[in-house]
Amino acid sequence: MEVITGGVTANVKYYDPYPIYMRRAKGSKLYDVDGNEYIDYCLSFGPLILGHGHPEVVGAIRKQLEESGTTIYGTPHELEMRMAERITTVVPCAESVRFTNSGLEATMHTLRLARAFTGRKKIAKFEGHYHGAHDYVTISVTPRLEEAGPPDSPNSVPDSSGILPSIIENTVVLPFNDLDSMQTLIRKNADDLAAVILEPAVKAYLMSDQEFAKGLREITEEKGIVLIYDEVMTGFRYGLHCAQGYLGVTPDLVTLGKIVGGGLPAGAFAGKKEIMELVSPQRSTKEPRVFHSGTYNGCPTVMAAGLATLDVLARTGSYEHIDGIADDLKKGMKSIFERENIDAQIVGPRNVFNVLFTPHKIINYRDTLKADAEKRAVFDLCLVNNGIYIRTTRAFYTSLAHSSSDVEKTLQTVERAAKKINE
Ligand SMILES: Cc1ncc(COP(=O)(O)O)c(C=O)c1O
Repeated sequence: MEVITGGVTANVKYYDPYPIYMRRAKGSKLYDVDGNEYIDYCLSFGPLILGHGHPEVVGAIRKQLEESGTTIYGTPHELEMRMAERITTVVPCAESVRFTNSGLEATMHTLRLARAFTGRKKIAKFEGHYHGAHDYVTISVTPRLEEAGPPDSPNSVPDSSGILPSIIENTVVLPFNDLDSMQTLIRKNADDLAAVILEPAVKAYLMSDQEFAKGLREITEEKGIVLIYDEVMTGFRYGLHCAQGYLGVTPDLVTLGKIVGGGLPAGAFAGKKEIMELVSPQRSTKEPRVFHSGTYNGCPTVMAAGLATLDVLARTGSYEHIDGIADDLKKGMKSIFERENIDAQIVGPRNVFNVLFTPHKIINYRDTLKADAEKRAVFDLCLVNNGIYIRTTRAFYTSLAHSSSDVEKTLQTVERAAKKINE
Protein backbone atom coordinates (compact mmCIF):
# COMPACT_ATOMS: atom_id res chain seq x y z
CA MET A 1 0.00 0.00 0.00
CA GLU A 2 2.84 2.37 0.81
CA VAL A 3 4.90 1.91 -2.34
CA ILE A 4 2.08 1.30 -4.83
CA THR A 5 -0.63 3.90 -4.61
CA GLY A 6 -3.79 2.21 -3.38
CA GLY A 7 -1.98 -1.15 -3.64
CA VAL A 8 -2.83 -1.65 -7.34
CA THR A 9 -1.34 -0.51 -10.65
CA ALA A 10 -4.71 -0.41 -12.43
CA ASN A 11 -7.84 0.72 -10.61
CA VAL A 12 -9.82 -2.17 -12.08
CA LYS A 13 -7.67 -4.56 -10.03
CA TYR A 14 -8.96 -3.12 -6.76
CA TYR A 15 -12.03 -4.50 -5.02
CA ASP A 16 -13.30 -4.49 -1.45
CA PRO A 17 -12.27 -5.54 1.09
CA TYR A 18 -8.90 -6.05 -0.69
CA PRO A 19 -7.67 -7.78 -3.85
CA ILE A 20 -5.95 -11.17 -3.70
CA TYR A 21 -2.27 -11.23 -4.61
CA MET A 22 -1.36 -14.01 -7.03
CA ARG A 23 2.00 -15.71 -7.45
CA ARG A 24 1.64 -18.42 -10.09
CA ALA A 25 -0.74 -19.63 -12.79
CA LYS A 26 -1.15 -22.59 -15.13
CA GLY A 27 -3.92 -23.48 -17.56
CA SER A 28 -7.26 -22.57 -15.99
CA LYS A 29 -5.77 -22.02 -12.53
CA LEU A 30 -4.38 -19.15 -10.49
CA TYR A 31 -2.44 -19.66 -7.23
CA ASP A 32 -2.27 -16.93 -4.61
CA VAL A 33 0.66 -16.00 -2.35
CA ASP A 34 -0.71 -18.35 0.35
CA GLY A 35 -0.79 -21.25 -2.10
CA ASN A 36 -4.60 -21.33 -2.58
CA GLU A 37 -5.82 -22.56 -5.97
CA TYR A 38 -8.53 -20.80 -7.99
CA ILE A 39 -10.27 -21.63 -11.25
CA ASP A 40 -9.73 -18.39 -13.13
CA TYR A 41 -12.68 -16.85 -15.00
CA CYS A 42 -11.12 -13.38 -15.14
CA LEU A 43 -8.23 -14.41 -17.41
CA SER A 44 -6.59 -11.04 -16.89
CA PHE A 45 -9.76 -9.31 -18.12
CA GLY A 46 -9.94 -11.26 -21.35
CA PRO A 47 -6.66 -11.80 -23.19
CA LEU A 48 -5.90 -15.33 -21.96
CA ILE A 49 -8.39 -17.13 -24.19
CA LEU A 50 -6.10 -20.18 -24.26
CA GLY A 51 -5.61 -20.10 -20.47
CA HIS A 52 -2.41 -19.32 -18.57
CA GLY A 53 0.94 -20.29 -20.07
CA HIS A 54 -0.34 -22.18 -23.13
CA PRO A 55 2.72 -24.21 -24.27
CA GLU A 56 2.53 -22.95 -27.86
CA VAL A 57 2.37 -19.33 -26.76
CA VAL A 58 5.20 -19.70 -24.25
CA GLY A 59 7.19 -21.67 -26.86
CA ALA A 60 6.71 -18.94 -29.48
CA ILE A 61 7.88 -16.24 -27.06
CA ARG A 62 10.92 -18.31 -26.08
CA LYS A 63 11.79 -19.11 -29.71
CA GLN A 64 11.52 -15.48 -30.74
CA LEU A 65 13.76 -14.30 -27.92
CA GLU A 66 16.35 -17.02 -28.47
CA GLU A 67 16.49 -16.98 -32.26
CA SER A 68 16.44 -13.22 -32.83
CA GLY A 69 19.07 -12.50 -30.18
CA THR A 70 17.19 -9.41 -29.01
CA THR A 71 13.95 -8.23 -27.45
CA ILE A 72 13.13 -5.64 -30.10
CA TYR A 73 14.61 -4.44 -33.40
CA GLY A 74 13.42 -0.85 -33.64
CA THR A 75 12.82 -1.48 -37.37
CA PRO A 76 10.05 -3.04 -39.44
CA HIS A 77 10.15 -6.85 -39.24
CA GLU A 78 8.57 -10.03 -40.54
CA LEU A 79 6.38 -10.95 -37.57
CA GLU A 80 4.46 -7.65 -37.62
CA MET A 81 3.86 -8.14 -41.35
CA ARG A 82 2.55 -11.64 -40.69
CA MET A 83 0.25 -10.36 -37.96
CA ALA A 84 -1.02 -7.54 -40.17
CA GLU A 85 -1.69 -10.05 -42.97
CA ARG A 86 -3.57 -12.28 -40.54
CA ILE A 87 -5.72 -9.41 -39.25
CA THR A 88 -6.53 -8.14 -42.74
CA THR A 89 -7.44 -11.67 -43.81
CA VAL A 90 -9.89 -12.42 -41.00
CA VAL A 91 -11.27 -9.10 -39.69
CA PRO A 92 -13.87 -7.86 -42.20
CA CYS A 93 -13.20 -4.09 -42.02
CA ALA A 94 -9.40 -4.37 -41.79
CA GLU A 95 -7.70 -3.32 -45.03
CA SER A 96 -4.53 -2.14 -43.33
CA VAL A 97 -3.24 -2.11 -39.77
CA ARG A 98 -1.12 -0.19 -37.26
CA PHE A 99 0.05 -1.63 -33.93
CA THR A 100 0.05 -0.04 -30.48
CA ASN A 101 0.91 -1.31 -27.00
CA SER A 102 -2.57 -1.13 -25.50
CA GLY A 103 -6.24 -0.84 -26.30
CA LEU A 104 -6.21 2.68 -24.90
CA GLU A 105 -3.73 3.87 -27.51
CA ALA A 106 -5.68 2.16 -30.27
CA THR A 107 -8.96 3.96 -29.47
CA MET A 108 -7.16 7.28 -28.98
CA HIS A 109 -5.57 7.05 -32.41
CA THR A 110 -8.77 6.06 -34.19
CA LEU A 111 -10.54 9.11 -32.79
CA ARG A 112 -7.77 11.41 -33.97
CA LEU A 113 -7.88 9.72 -37.37
CA ALA A 114 -11.64 10.22 -37.59
CA ARG A 115 -11.33 13.91 -36.74
CA ALA A 116 -8.63 14.41 -39.34
CA PHE A 117 -10.51 12.41 -41.98
CA THR A 118 -13.84 14.23 -41.55
CA GLY A 119 -12.57 17.66 -40.45
CA ARG A 120 -15.19 17.55 -37.67
CA LYS A 121 -14.57 17.80 -33.94
CA LYS A 122 -17.26 15.93 -31.96
CA ILE A 123 -17.16 12.28 -30.94
CA ALA A 124 -20.19 10.19 -29.98
CA LYS A 125 -19.86 7.33 -27.56
CA PHE A 126 -22.38 5.16 -25.76
CA GLU A 127 -23.26 5.34 -22.10
CA GLY A 128 -21.61 2.53 -20.14
CA HIS A 129 -19.03 1.70 -22.82
CA TYR A 130 -15.34 1.60 -21.89
CA HIS A 131 -12.61 2.42 -24.38
CA GLY A 132 -9.53 2.79 -22.19
CA ALA A 133 -8.27 5.40 -19.76
CA HIS A 134 -7.61 8.42 -22.01
CA ASP A 135 -9.46 11.72 -21.74
CA TYR A 136 -11.55 11.46 -24.91
CA VAL A 137 -13.47 8.40 -23.72
CA THR A 138 -13.38 8.65 -19.93
CA ILE A 139 -16.89 10.01 -20.12
CA SER A 140 -20.18 8.36 -19.07
CA VAL A 141 -18.59 4.96 -18.54
CA THR A 142 -20.08 4.51 -15.06
CA PRO A 143 -22.23 7.59 -14.43
CA ARG A 144 -24.43 7.61 -11.34
CA LEU A 145 -28.14 7.60 -12.23
CA GLU A 146 -28.64 10.95 -10.47
CA GLU A 147 -26.23 12.66 -12.87
CA ALA A 148 -26.79 10.55 -15.99
CA GLY A 149 -29.68 12.62 -17.36
CA PRO A 150 -32.67 11.44 -19.42
CA PRO A 151 -32.35 7.87 -20.71
CA ASP A 152 -33.06 8.90 -24.32
CA SER A 153 -30.55 11.79 -24.23
CA PRO A 154 -27.86 11.06 -21.61
CA ASN A 155 -25.62 13.74 -20.12
CA SER A 156 -21.92 13.77 -20.87
CA VAL A 157 -20.51 12.92 -17.44
CA PRO A 158 -16.74 12.73 -16.83
CA ASP A 159 -15.58 9.61 -14.97
CA SER A 160 -12.44 11.34 -13.73
CA SER A 161 -11.35 14.68 -12.41
CA GLY A 162 -8.96 16.52 -14.69
CA ILE A 163 -10.84 16.12 -17.96
CA LEU A 164 -11.03 19.35 -19.95
CA PRO A 165 -14.49 20.95 -20.20
CA SER A 166 -13.97 21.24 -23.97
CA ILE A 167 -13.71 17.44 -24.23
CA ILE A 168 -16.88 16.98 -22.21
CA GLU A 169 -18.70 19.51 -24.43
CA ASN A 170 -17.48 17.80 -27.59
CA THR A 171 -18.63 14.34 -26.57
CA VAL A 172 -22.17 13.27 -27.41
CA VAL A 173 -23.38 10.43 -25.20
CA LEU A 174 -25.80 8.00 -26.83
CA PRO A 175 -28.14 5.39 -25.32
CA PHE A 176 -27.14 1.83 -26.26
CA ASN A 177 -29.64 -0.51 -27.91
CA ASP A 178 -32.20 2.28 -28.31
CA LEU A 179 -32.44 2.70 -32.08
CA ASP A 180 -34.81 5.68 -32.23
CA SER A 181 -33.07 7.81 -29.59
CA MET A 182 -29.64 7.00 -31.03
CA GLN A 183 -30.77 8.07 -34.51
CA THR A 184 -32.36 11.28 -33.21
CA LEU A 185 -29.19 12.30 -31.35
CA ILE A 186 -26.93 11.47 -34.27
CA ARG A 187 -29.13 13.45 -36.70
CA LYS A 188 -29.08 16.41 -34.32
CA ASN A 189 -25.24 16.44 -34.13
CA ALA A 190 -24.42 15.01 -37.56
CA ASP A 191 -22.67 18.07 -39.01
CA ASP A 192 -20.15 18.11 -36.14
CA LEU A 193 -19.68 14.39 -35.59
CA ALA A 194 -16.38 12.87 -36.67
CA ALA A 195 -16.95 9.41 -35.19
CA VAL A 196 -19.24 7.11 -33.31
CA ILE A 197 -17.29 4.63 -31.20
CA LEU A 198 -18.85 1.66 -29.44
CA GLU A 199 -18.22 -1.73 -27.92
CA PRO A 200 -20.28 -3.99 -30.21
CA ALA A 201 -20.86 -6.11 -27.11
CA VAL A 202 -20.37 -4.15 -23.89
CA LYS A 203 -17.66 -5.79 -21.74
CA ALA A 204 -17.98 -8.52 -24.38
CA TYR A 205 -21.27 -9.83 -22.93
CA LEU A 206 -24.00 -7.25 -23.59
CA MET A 207 -24.52 -7.60 -27.32
CA SER A 208 -25.80 -4.98 -29.76
CA ASP A 209 -29.28 -5.76 -30.87
CA GLN A 210 -29.12 -6.73 -34.56
CA GLU A 211 -31.53 -4.00 -35.75
CA PHE A 212 -29.70 -1.45 -33.65
CA ALA A 213 -26.31 -2.42 -35.09
CA LYS A 214 -27.67 -2.22 -38.65
CA GLY A 215 -29.39 1.13 -37.96
CA LEU A 216 -26.18 2.58 -36.55
CA ARG A 217 -24.21 1.48 -39.61
CA GLU A 218 -26.83 3.00 -41.92
CA ILE A 219 -27.03 6.39 -40.26
CA THR A 220 -23.24 6.78 -39.86
CA GLU A 221 -22.81 5.89 -43.54
CA GLU A 222 -25.55 8.33 -44.57
CA LYS A 223 -24.02 11.18 -42.52
CA GLY A 224 -20.36 10.51 -43.39
CA ILE A 225 -19.48 9.71 -39.77
CA VAL A 226 -16.64 7.24 -39.11
CA LEU A 227 -18.01 4.17 -37.33
CA ILE A 228 -15.46 2.63 -34.96
CA TYR A 229 -15.99 -0.79 -33.43
CA ASP A 230 -13.89 -1.04 -30.31
CA GLU A 231 -13.12 -4.76 -30.37
CA VAL A 232 -10.36 -4.69 -27.76
CA MET A 233 -12.52 -7.03 -25.70
CA THR A 234 -14.59 -8.80 -28.37
CA GLY A 235 -11.80 -9.17 -30.95
CA PHE A 236 -11.16 -12.92 -31.45
CA ARG A 237 -13.56 -13.73 -28.59
CA TYR A 238 -16.48 -13.78 -31.01
CA GLY A 239 -14.57 -15.96 -33.43
CA LEU A 240 -11.77 -15.04 -35.84
CA HIS A 241 -14.03 -12.53 -37.60
CA CYS A 242 -14.70 -10.77 -34.27
CA ALA A 243 -18.01 -9.21 -33.20
CA GLN A 244 -18.37 -7.47 -36.57
CA GLY A 245 -18.38 -10.87 -38.26
CA TYR A 246 -20.82 -12.20 -35.67
CA LEU A 247 -23.19 -9.24 -36.23
CA GLY A 248 -22.66 -9.07 -39.99
CA VAL A 249 -21.94 -5.33 -39.80
CA THR A 250 -18.71 -3.83 -41.16
CA PRO A 251 -17.49 -0.66 -39.43
CA ASP A 252 -14.98 1.81 -40.92
CA LEU A 253 -12.33 1.26 -38.27
CA VAL A 254 -11.68 -1.34 -35.58
CA THR A 255 -9.56 -1.35 -32.47
CA LEU A 256 -8.04 -4.56 -31.17
CA GLY A 257 -6.04 -5.50 -28.07
CA LYS A 258 -5.92 -8.23 -25.43
CA ILE A 259 -6.06 -11.53 -27.41
CA VAL A 260 -4.10 -10.04 -30.31
CA GLY A 261 -1.05 -9.93 -28.01
CA GLY A 262 -1.51 -13.43 -26.60
CA GLY A 263 -1.25 -12.11 -23.03
CA LEU A 264 1.53 -9.58 -23.64
CA PRO A 265 0.86 -5.80 -23.92
CA ALA A 266 -0.70 -5.15 -27.31
CA GLY A 267 -3.15 -3.17 -29.35
CA ALA A 268 -3.93 -2.43 -32.97
CA PHE A 269 -6.17 -0.29 -35.09
CA ALA A 270 -7.21 -1.13 -38.59
CA GLY A 271 -9.81 -0.33 -41.19
CA LYS A 272 -10.54 1.27 -44.50
CA LYS A 273 -7.40 2.15 -46.45
CA GLU A 274 -8.64 5.65 -47.32
CA ILE A 275 -8.81 6.49 -43.60
CA MET A 276 -5.76 4.53 -42.45
CA GLU A 277 -3.67 6.20 -45.18
CA LEU A 278 -3.69 9.40 -43.13
CA VAL A 279 -1.05 7.96 -40.77
CA SER A 280 1.34 7.14 -43.60
CA PRO A 281 4.64 9.04 -43.31
CA GLN A 282 4.75 9.01 -47.11
CA ARG A 283 1.90 11.50 -47.41
CA SER A 284 2.70 14.97 -48.58
CA THR A 285 2.75 17.65 -45.91
CA LYS A 286 0.04 19.48 -47.86
CA GLU A 287 -2.49 16.70 -47.11
CA PRO A 288 -4.08 16.01 -43.72
CA ARG A 289 -1.57 13.84 -41.84
CA VAL A 290 -2.07 12.04 -38.54
CA PHE A 291 0.80 11.33 -36.23
CA HIS A 292 1.08 7.79 -34.93
CA SER A 293 4.22 6.38 -33.37
CA GLY A 294 5.47 4.38 -30.39
CA THR A 295 8.80 2.82 -29.39
CA TYR A 296 7.32 -0.61 -28.70
CA ASN A 297 4.65 -0.75 -31.42
CA GLY A 298 4.68 -4.17 -33.09
CA CYS A 299 7.15 -5.60 -30.54
CA PRO A 300 8.30 -8.94 -32.03
CA THR A 301 7.82 -10.95 -28.82
CA VAL A 302 4.24 -9.69 -28.60
CA MET A 303 3.60 -10.50 -32.25
CA ALA A 304 4.97 -14.02 -31.73
CA ALA A 305 2.65 -14.59 -28.76
CA GLY A 306 -0.34 -13.15 -30.64
CA LEU A 307 0.27 -15.21 -33.78
CA ALA A 308 0.65 -18.41 -31.74
CA THR A 309 -2.66 -17.62 -30.01
CA LEU A 310 -4.47 -17.00 -33.30
CA ASP A 311 -3.00 -20.23 -34.75
CA VAL A 312 -4.47 -22.26 -31.91
CA LEU A 313 -7.82 -20.44 -32.14
CA ALA A 314 -8.01 -21.16 -35.88
CA ARG A 315 -7.91 -24.93 -35.28
CA THR A 316 -11.11 -26.89 -35.60
CA GLY A 317 -12.75 -27.30 -32.24
CA SER A 318 -11.06 -24.44 -30.36
CA TYR A 319 -14.00 -22.01 -30.29
CA GLU A 320 -16.43 -24.93 -29.89
CA HIS A 321 -14.62 -25.90 -26.69
CA ILE A 322 -14.41 -22.35 -25.30
CA ASP A 323 -18.08 -21.66 -26.11
CA GLY A 324 -19.10 -25.12 -24.86
CA ILE A 325 -17.58 -24.49 -21.42
CA ALA A 326 -19.51 -21.20 -21.21
CA ASP A 327 -22.73 -22.92 -22.34
CA ASP A 328 -22.40 -25.62 -19.67
CA LEU A 329 -21.77 -22.99 -17.00
CA LYS A 330 -24.71 -20.85 -18.16
CA LYS A 331 -27.12 -23.80 -18.31
CA GLY A 332 -25.96 -25.11 -14.93
CA MET A 333 -26.26 -21.70 -13.25
CA LYS A 334 -29.69 -21.09 -14.76
CA SER A 335 -31.06 -24.33 -13.35
CA ILE A 336 -29.49 -23.68 -9.92
CA PHE A 337 -31.06 -20.21 -9.72
CA GLU A 338 -34.42 -21.57 -10.87
CA ARG A 339 -34.29 -24.35 -8.25
CA GLU A 340 -33.42 -21.81 -5.56
CA ASN A 341 -36.10 -19.34 -6.75
CA ILE A 342 -33.56 -16.59 -7.37
CA ASP A 343 -34.30 -14.08 -10.12
CA ALA A 344 -31.18 -13.92 -12.26
CA GLN A 345 -30.24 -12.95 -15.79
CA ILE A 346 -27.27 -14.75 -17.28
CA VAL A 347 -26.29 -12.47 -20.13
CA GLY A 348 -23.86 -13.15 -22.98
CA PRO A 349 -24.23 -15.10 -26.20
CA ARG A 350 -20.85 -16.85 -26.44
CA ASN A 351 -17.85 -17.30 -24.16
CA VAL A 352 -18.23 -14.22 -21.93
CA PHE A 353 -21.27 -13.87 -19.69
CA ASN A 354 -22.36 -12.01 -16.61
CA VAL A 355 -24.76 -12.84 -13.80
CA LEU A 356 -27.19 -10.09 -12.79
CA PHE A 357 -29.72 -10.65 -10.05
CA THR A 358 -32.90 -9.18 -11.47
CA PRO A 359 -36.10 -10.51 -13.09
CA HIS A 360 -35.78 -7.90 -15.86
CA LYS A 361 -34.13 -8.21 -19.22
CA ILE A 362 -30.78 -6.40 -19.48
CA ILE A 363 -30.12 -4.42 -22.65
CA ASN A 364 -27.94 -1.50 -21.52
CA TYR A 365 -25.88 0.08 -18.75
CA ARG A 366 -28.86 1.55 -16.86
CA ASP A 367 -30.48 -1.89 -16.68
CA THR A 368 -27.35 -3.28 -15.03
CA LEU A 369 -27.66 -0.65 -12.28
CA LYS A 370 -31.11 -1.99 -11.39
CA ALA A 371 -29.76 -5.47 -10.59
CA ASP A 372 -29.43 -6.46 -6.93
CA ALA A 373 -25.84 -5.55 -5.97
CA GLU A 374 -26.12 -7.04 -2.47
CA LYS A 375 -26.98 -10.47 -3.82
CA ARG A 376 -24.11 -10.21 -6.27
CA ALA A 377 -21.72 -9.31 -3.43
CA VAL A 378 -22.76 -12.45 -1.51
CA PHE A 379 -22.34 -14.51 -4.70
CA ASP A 380 -18.89 -13.05 -5.45
CA LEU A 381 -17.54 -13.52 -1.94
CA CYS A 382 -18.72 -17.12 -1.79
CA LEU A 383 -17.10 -17.91 -5.15
CA VAL A 384 -13.78 -16.25 -4.42
CA ASN A 385 -13.59 -17.74 -0.91
CA ASN A 386 -14.16 -21.18 -2.40
CA GLY A 387 -11.60 -21.22 -5.19
CA ILE A 388 -13.47 -19.62 -8.10
CA TYR A 389 -11.72 -16.46 -9.21
CA ILE A 390 -13.74 -13.71 -10.83
CA ARG A 391 -13.20 -9.98 -10.59
CA THR A 392 -16.11 -9.15 -8.31
CA THR A 393 -19.21 -7.73 -10.08
CA ARG A 394 -17.74 -8.52 -13.50
CA ALA A 395 -18.20 -11.06 -16.24
CA PHE A 396 -16.95 -14.65 -16.53
CA TYR A 397 -14.54 -15.41 -19.40
CA THR A 398 -13.91 -18.96 -20.50
CA SER A 399 -10.80 -20.40 -22.16
CA LEU A 400 -9.50 -23.40 -24.01
CA ALA A 401 -7.84 -24.51 -20.77
CA HIS A 402 -11.11 -24.86 -18.82
CA SER A 403 -12.32 -28.43 -18.41
CA SER A 404 -15.56 -30.18 -17.55
CA SER A 405 -14.20 -30.83 -14.05
CA ASP A 406 -13.68 -27.05 -13.69
CA VAL A 407 -17.33 -26.60 -14.70
CA GLU A 408 -18.47 -29.21 -12.20
CA LYS A 409 -16.53 -27.62 -9.31
CA THR A 410 -17.74 -24.15 -10.32
CA LEU A 411 -21.38 -25.23 -10.37
CA GLN A 412 -21.06 -26.88 -6.95
CA THR A 413 -19.76 -23.56 -5.62
CA VAL A 414 -22.50 -21.60 -7.40
CA GLU A 415 -25.02 -23.88 -5.65
CA ARG A 416 -23.44 -22.95 -2.29
CA ALA A 417 -23.53 -19.27 -3.25
CA ALA A 418 -27.21 -19.53 -4.21
CA LYS A 419 -28.03 -21.05 -0.81
CA LYS A 420 -26.07 -18.25 0.89
CA ILE A 421 -28.11 -15.67 -1.04
CA ASN A 422 -31.27 -17.28 0.33
CA GLU A 423 -30.02 -17.45 3.95
C1 LIG B 1 -13.49 -2.38 -24.99
C2 LIG B 1 -12.17 -1.92 -24.45
N1 LIG B 1 -11.53 -0.93 -25.08
C3 LIG B 1 -10.34 -0.48 -24.65
C4 LIG B 1 -9.75 -1.02 -23.53
C5 LIG B 1 -8.42 -0.50 -23.07
O1 LIG B 1 -7.43 -1.45 -23.29
P1 LIG B 1 -6.07 -1.42 -22.46
O2 LIG B 1 -6.41 -1.81 -21.07
O3 LIG B 1 -5.18 -2.40 -23.17
O4 LIG B 1 -5.56 -0.03 -22.56
C6 LIG B 1 -10.39 -2.06 -22.84
C7 LIG B 1 -9.80 -2.65 -21.63
O5 LIG B 1 -10.38 -3.41 -20.91
C8 LIG B 1 -11.64 -2.51 -23.31
O6 LIG B 1 -12.31 -3.48 -22.69
